[in-house]
Amino acid sequence: MDDSEMPVEPICVFYGTTTGNSEMLAEETTEKLREMGFPATLSSTEGVTAGVLYQMGTLLLLMSTDNEGDPPMMAEKFYESLADKKVADLDHLSFSVLALGDSYYPDFCQAGKDFDRMLEMMGAHRLTERVDCDVHFWTQFENWFINVRSALLNKRKTLECCTSIV
Ligand SMILES: Cc1cc2nc3c(=O)[nH]c(=O)nc-3n(C[C@H](O)[C@H](O)[C@H](O)COP(=O)(O)O)c2cc1C
Repeated sequence: MDDSEMPVEPICVFYGTTTGNSEMLAEETTEKLREMGFPATLSSTEGVTAGVLYQMGTLLLLMSTDNEGDPPMMAEKFYESLADKKVADLDHLSFSVLALGDSYYPDFCQAGKDFDRMLEMMGAHRLTERVDCDVHFWTQFENWFINVRSALLNKRKTLECCTSIV
């Protein structure tokens, strides 16, 4: 079986943004993944609730922080439904968070940090460590993506190996 025939599950790229930075980086992430042959899907977190997490295996979450450490308005429902979740049953889910913020504020990247912590508490597994981006975010974004890319390639290699044994 060659790479193109591999049954790969989609990688869900979600973003929460106020002024567009996270959306732009989420688009860049999705494009790069598709160029690598991964079936990546791109969505905003507008109207999303934690229930969506049962339908995916890999989540890349790009999340900015708004006033006083809050998530952007479009991510509030997602944030609250995850905070209200009572059962840690996201064991099937791998995730990585890119948090956007500005170190001028005391609650630097707080929304991304909160999502990262809540996903872990609900049983999901970190694909890579969270990266916190300051106002000049390109280098941090590139570093995060390099780590995400190698984790995904390793996962794909493991899957290819298991499939060829079966
Ligand atoms: C009104 C306002 C409040 C903000 N509050 C915070 C904050 O509390 N903590 C933080 O780390 N960044 C804060 N930021 C910075 C943004 O998170 C940062 O500019 C980010 O890159 C914006 O990403 P976005 O365009 O995807 O929303 C704030 C920005 C604005 C405009």
